[in-house]
Amino acid sequence: MSDRITIKSESQHQAMRAAGELTGRTLDYIGTLVKIGVSTKELDEAAEAFIRKHGGIPSFLNYEGYPASICTSVNEQIVHGIPSKKVRLKDGDIISVDCGAIIDGFNGDAARTFLVGNVAEEVKELVRVTEECFFKGFEQAIPGNHICDIARAIETHAESHGYGVVRELVGHGIGADMHEAPEVPNFTNIRMGRGARLLPGMAIAVEPMITLGSRAIRVLADGWTCVTADGKPAAHYENTIFITKDGPELLTKPE
Ligand code: MF3
Ligand code: CO
Repeated sequence: MSDRITIKSESQHQAMRAAGELTGRTLDYIGTLVKIGVSTKELDEAAEAFIRKHGGIPSFLNYEGYPASICTSVNEQIVHGIPSKKVRLKDGDIISVDCGAIIDGFNGDAARTFLVGNVAEEVKELVRVTEECFFKGFEQAIPGNHICDIARAIETHAESHGYGVVRELVGHGIGADMHEAPEVPNFTNIRMGRGARLLPGMAIAVEPMITLGSRAIRVLADGWTCVTADGKPAAHYENTIFITKDGPELLTKPE
């Protein structure tokens, strides 16, 4: 992760719009393929083909050795689940799909949690509130605010529903690198202070990871897959946001 906050030029803003749009469209498309019986490997192959067909590069593929173009995290998997022929979606599952595409040297990064068939009411609610958490944070992404304003809005909303907020993984600046400064946590504490001040030309990925039970996580033996320690479901929702003088611009728009 580069440790410099980058301010994008107008032409770089345009490239980020293109990358963000393709990332959002790829997730819309993957959402149409999420069905009982589909394997997560099939979703990965479809995403890679879609990104390449539209002139993008899948940014996750080979990123620090990651072996696929999307992350597919099912039920108690929070993030970074690796697509597999052996994992087929079942009625009642939820699946978080995280996707990134590069166009003209700039990155888009976004994630959605999709429902498979008949999902339990309390899990549907978790998915809905996780999206709401993102939008609570989004509203705070205005010039002059600080990172902590986004974090606090997300944390307050999640905790008002009794959910856990994952702390080991955070959102991030984004641009020519997928992960740039600053870190964008979904929680607050005194040690972190206010975080960076938001300025026009900054781009950030805001990505609440919210758990139905305890916020404690563990990482599976594959070295990637993050799961809840208590085995209860988790949801993830992410978009790339550009800070403009008039407020936040959503670059990875959902349909
Ligand atoms: N998109 C993830 C993030 O939000 C990163 C994916 S890690 C990868 O930061 F290795 F899969 F690329
Ligand atoms: Co991200």
